[in-house]
Amino acid sequence: MNNFLKNKKILLIVTGGIACYRSLDLIRKLQELGSIVECILTKSSLEFVNQITFESLLGKKVHSNLFSLSQEKKMSHIYLANEMDIILIVPCTANFLSKIANGIADDLALNVLLASKKHKVIAPAMNTNMWENPIVKQNLKKLSKIKFKVLHPKSGKLACGMKGSGKLMDIDKIIDSINLIFSPKLLSGLKVIITAGPSVERIDPVRFISNYSTGFQGYEIANNLSDYGANTFLISGPTQLEKPKNLKVINVESCQEFYNQVESRLPCDIFISVAAISDWKIKKYSNNKIKNKLNKLKLEFTRNDDILNKVSTHPHRPKLVIGFSAETQDLISNSKKKLNQKKCDWIIANKVSEKMGFGDVKNKISFIEKNNLENWPSMNKRQIAKKITKKIVNFFKKK
Ligand SMILES: Cc1cc2nc3c(=O)[nH]c(=O)nc-3n(C[C@H](O)[C@H](O)[C@H](O)COP(=O)(O)O)c2cc1C
Repeated sequence: MNNFLKNKKILLIVTGGIACYRSLDLIRKLQELGSIVECILTKSSLEFVNQITFESLLGKKVHSNLFSLSQEKKMSHIYLANEMDIILIVPCTANFLSKIANGIADDLALNVLLASKKHKVIAPAMNTNMWENPIVKQNLKKLSKIKFKVLHPKSGKLACGMKGSGKLMDIDKIIDSINLIFSPKLLSGLKVIITAGPSVERIDPVRFISNYSTGFQGYEIANNLSDYGANTFLISGPTQLEKPKNLKVINVESCQEFYNQVESRLPCDIFISVAAISDWKIKKYSNNKIKNKLNKLKLEFTRNDDILNKVSTHPHRPKLVIGFSAETQDLISNSKKKLNQKKCDWIIANKVSEKMGFGDVKNKISFIEKNNLENWPSMNKRQIAKKITKKIVNFFKKK
């Protein structure tokens, strides 16, 4: 996921629950992402954690006293309410939840929340019975209605010994959710279908033809487009990659399966064909394992469908169709030919060799459209995905 948290001013309110100590990990990770973190500890939280630990990590004082004019030159509650980009309450106790839902303002944190019009996120953590209590549910409903983002706790073994819901959401997940709030969403409202990874064409129950595609480039592009708010469908061949969050992944193997999944999701605004789909498939699949008694084996292959061309000429043709071209020779002339034959809008061309092309490696891309050729400098696939995303954003800006 892109980092949208750099230089964001974040106020973290820590309330008095057993999960208090985990907010230290949250602070550290936010700082690593370049956020500017301020912190308020409620009076009860100081029963669980030590102020000095927070101040050491933050490298500054925590805010705690509503009435201390000496602690801050400016009025803390007004300054924090107006100057922060977002307020997080992690962990949020049942008590604190109830107070905010009812507009109570009897400490610094509650005053800041009442005085602030900024994004507010709460990550509750409490005993299962407390979490399931209708009063807590009512308070959460109230807060969701006034645009508090509620990060629901997970299930598991709680500190009190009970098993059930109420455990603080994982810190990494909390960070992902906050990050999404700041995503520029320049592609929201657009639907993307993207293919990635290798195809697998079965020969018999134990053998197949495939290729070296790792899916890395396609996954990076899919993640980027989703980060920018596009409704993203990733149709993926088998890969070793982690399943991306925040987008829909559909696993397939053969060219036919790739096409069926793509076609069933048309119409869309953008189609990107990154998958390395086999040009051929076996003419006759053998239901039984082909025996190795023969010294010579002849296999007959037939052409697979050309998915890029089929989507480009489909009655529901997307507004933008992008193909990838991996060539070992005559990169530009072969890729220009491909642009015409496939009838797509852009070709992202790159040379493949033993050191370039597949996996998490650097690539030199030539970006080709009808009357334009750009030779991009050597970049890693994450950077390439970002550059393609920018191009897509500009394409739809001009529309
Ligand atoms: C050992 C212990 C653990 C607690 N853990 C939690 C908890 O995880 N969640 C919660 O909502 N309250 C918990 N409480 C209760 C809160 O500390 C109490 O409601 C307190 O008033 C919260 O104050 P605050 O919301 O102002 O921080 C716990 C209390 C004790 C003594």
